Amino acid sequence: MKNPVSGFSKLTKTEKINWLTTNYFEGNISAKNTLEQYWNTNLSLQKLHDDFIENTISNYYLPLGVAPNFLINDTLYTIPMVIEESSVVAAASNAAKFWLEKGGFKAEIISTTKNGQVHFNYFGNFNDLQTFFNETKPALISGIETLQTNMKKRGGGLIDITLVDSTKKLEGYYQLHCTFETLDAMGANFINSCLETIATIFESKTQEYTPFKISEKTPEIVMSILSNFVPECTVKASVSCPVESLTVGKISGQVFAEKLTRAVAIAKAEPRRAVTHNKGIMNGVDAVILATGNDFRAVEAGVHAFAAKNGNYSSLTHAAIENGIFTFWIELPLALGTVGGLTSLHPLVKFAFDLLQKPNAKELMKIVAVAGLAQNFAALKSLVTTGIQKGHMKMHLMNILNGLNATSTEKEQAIEHYKTNPVSHSNVVTFISNLRDIK
Ligand code: HMG
Repeated sequence: MKNPVSGFSKLTKTEKINWLTTNYFEGNISAKNTLEQYWNTNLSLQKLHDDFIENTISNYYLPLGVAPNFLINDTLYTIPMVIEESSVVAAASNAAKFWLEKGGFKAEIISTTKNGQVHFNYFGNFNDLQTFFNETKPALISGIETLQTNMKKRGGGLIDITLVDSTKKLEGYYQLHCTFETLDAMGANFINSCLETIATIFESKTQEYTPFKISEKTPEIVMSILSNFVPECTVKASVSCPVESLTVGKISGQVFAEKLTRAVAIAKAEPRRAVTHNKGIMNGVDAVILATGNDFRAVEAGVHAFAAKNGNYSSLTHAAIENGIFTFWIELPLALGTVGGLTSLHPLVKFAFDLLQKPNAKELMKIVAVAGLAQNFAALKSLVTTGIQKGHMKMHLMNILNGLNATSTEKEQAIEHYKTNPVSHSNVVTFISNLRDIK
């Protein structure tokens, strides 16, 4: 039975590690050594990372890879990707190379409006509430003037506030639905500060409003928070080419295009397939979101809600063959930032932005959507031709060999052998143990 701890947050990093070692590792020093092995020798860099979160004890590495040859709107990018899964970066690179010779990717911003809500209870007469809202709205807007100064100077800020009657969803439930333009900032702090100020003003004005006093029914604030569902902040990415240019190995362009289009149709019709299909898209999306220090939880939540916006969880990508032209496209809701948060703090995030030639938020939205589309194309290309395991396991080979503590000579022999043989975990185990038996 472990003991609870009080004041843990106030301990130093070393004290925290000592407490963990004593309580969870029976005093074994090897756990402590593992943590320390990942500390950065540059003390100020380590301190920077320690301060990103709370109760930091070490750094958790994920590989940073790059996928070259992404032609997006006629500009060539090398895309940084942070991900733990083998074959994702290879797949992205493969799709980029495939489309490079066919005109590359096109991407366009559809809209950039973000939103948040003040959620409140009200059990009185709706007309009283509507009149109150109409009279109070100018004060709500002027009340956030100071908060908005800088954002407005840059051309953004609050767009509108509307009163939403949500009583059909939940008795007595209303919202102040607020829309914002936050430009290159993801906007979470700005939006939440505006919402909380709006809520305070709204609540204080309700106290002075006579019809509420008479009816003894006064609106009551529950909470104020931005929404990560951003269907009005979307980007579209696409590729297209004549069907005959899609030849893959011995498979004709027509057959390949039809198979791929059918695979997308299946992901549209069947949620079980759609979830995996979209997971493949998020392999690309999340990897770029992580590399650029953005909030992948917010993006994940918003993207999956978007995939279910018509009441059925469905494919985020679309494919069509029309008049001999194959088109494959994606529309994604993405609230991203290229300023604020970790963007200027984390040296590798800064590197990622420099590599991408310092994109603004709209450009980053396009790059991320393209990465998602490319990833889905590569996965579908494998799925409808060779099957996924051939390429995926080829990339995963090194992980299996490392898991078996293969020596560099064993690795060299394995790599040579698996150039012409299919990789599976069990046959690599057999291959290595045979090598070891021979010795
Ligand atoms: P290949 O055709 O065997 O590759 O594909 P290749 O050796 O002929 O090389 C061609 C190009 O592929 C290279 O060009 C690279 O662009 C790239 P080059 O650099 O030589 O000019 N490439 C690589 N890039 C970096 N490192 C490498 C590498 N190898 C090739 N080592 C490949 C092999 C794995 C790319 C292909 O089979 C593929 O794209 N497979 C799909 C893999 C995939 O989708 N992985 C994601 C994980 S599976 C999953 O989670 C999602 C899924 O469930 C989603 C769904 O169901 O929809 C599948």
